[in-house]
Amino acid sequence: MIVVDGGRPLVGTVQASGAKNAALPAVMASLLTTDPVVIENAPRLLDMDTALTLARTLGKEVGREGGTVRLCGGDELAQAAPDAVVQRMRASFLALGPLLARTGEVWMPLPGGCAIGPRPVDLHLRGLACLGAEIAVDGGVVHAKACQLRGSTVYLDYPSVGATEQVLLAGALAEGETVVVNPAREPEVVDLTRLLSAMGADVVWHMDRVVIRGRPELEGATHRLIPDRIEAGTYLLAGAITRGTVTVTGVRPDHLDALLAKISQAGVEVAVEEAAVRVAASARPHAVNVQTGPYPGFPTDLQPPLVAFLCLAEGQATVTETVFESRFGQVEALVRMGARVRVSGNTAITEGVSGLHGATVQATDIRAGAAVVLAALAAHGRTEIRGGGHLARGYEDFVGKLRGLGATVWEASEP
Ligand code: UD1
Repeated sequence: MIVVDGGRPLVGTVQASGAKNAALPAVMASLLTTDPVVIENAPRLLDMDTALTLARTLGKEVGREGGTVRLCGGDELAQAAPDAVVQRMRASFLALGPLLARTGEVWMPLPGGCAIGPRPVDLHLRGLACLGAEIAVDGGVVHAKACQLRGSTVYLDYPSVGATEQVLLAGALAEGETVVVNPAREPEVVDLTRLLSAMGADVVWHMDRVVIRGRPELEGATHRLIPDRIEAGTYLLAGAITRGTVTVTGVRPDHLDALLAKISQAGVEVAVEEAAVRVAASARPHAVNVQTGPYPGFPTDLQPPLVAFLCLAEGQATVTETVFESRFGQVEALVRMGARVRVSGNTAITEGVSGLHGATVQATDIRAGAAVVLAALAAHGRTEIRGGGHLARGYEDFVGKLRGLGATVWEASEP
């Protein structure tokens, strides 16, 4: 568990790590070739370990030195992914497209992942079917078959990040042109297309679609991941919620536009430099209403920490979650800490209070866990966060980085 003695402003500078959600699909892209794919700025996270374990299990040679991961080989890839790995992390399901393109027949368990509502994969499967795959689902396992994937137009009902990546990964080895209409345009998806281009696929983004022209074989590449905008946003909110002054370096400020607009509207001072953002919150912020949405909308992954921040702002705020069906796992813990927040349908309504107090609470997933840690940093007294292990899935050295900003926080074994 994570223990926090809160009530002090955070002050200082913290460096953003490479983006988790760009790293995981990059590992899956390495399955498309036997040449070396080198991933730089790779974050040290449990989810990254899981992705590398999966790649190794499927037949890749995996090496890691500091922030650089090297994947190569895999002439003969396995055609089935182990259920235990896929259940641990939903992004494992992205191996389906590359494995199918390379081997022609795959058995892939349906994924697990965060406890944030039902997360179907229908768009992934429909996309692969458009490229000519025969798909059947039986007993929780997807069986996919295709001698040769053929480029086609895939229309997504919703701009799903995973489904867009799945189709692009498969399209990279498909014959001809694959068009994804209504794609997700999250920076991490764009980052994957940068890697696929470096590997030899031809990718062009348009207003409403992304077009990938596949190759019979792809080459290796060296790829530097973009910074993690969700991690960066979490530290900026940590500065804001504790009325501190926090600078996050090594970021792409343009990837943080939605968050920065909302917190400056709430009265937090925001200063943007070329690759750094500083927030300073001397006065009590006021409530702002927010709705999550696909990029460039407000990121759903920052919704839980934002709700924590609004619990201490002046006035009433509504936060509407449109991306996931149920993603307010942080609310119960916040209420235990003295927040006045309730959920009505897909909206959280906060009535700002002037202070929170420590409590024993539960982290239900990565981002809800981050939200609770932020609330604990601002709260008076000690908070024990059970299930704090979730945080290591998505945040590199979370406790160490917070300590670097002056927080009193440590890990302890769970009673
Ligand atoms: C990715 C991110 C996650 C982020 C999310 C939304 C990774 C590893 N994870 O998750 O951190 O919160 O994007 O920005 O990159 N959906 C369907 N059918 C599908 C696929 C998705 O109905 O086939 C629905 C989901 O249930 C969800 C919504 O679409 O309600 C968004 O999901 P999606 O964009 O696919 O998120 P992930 O790729 O799972």
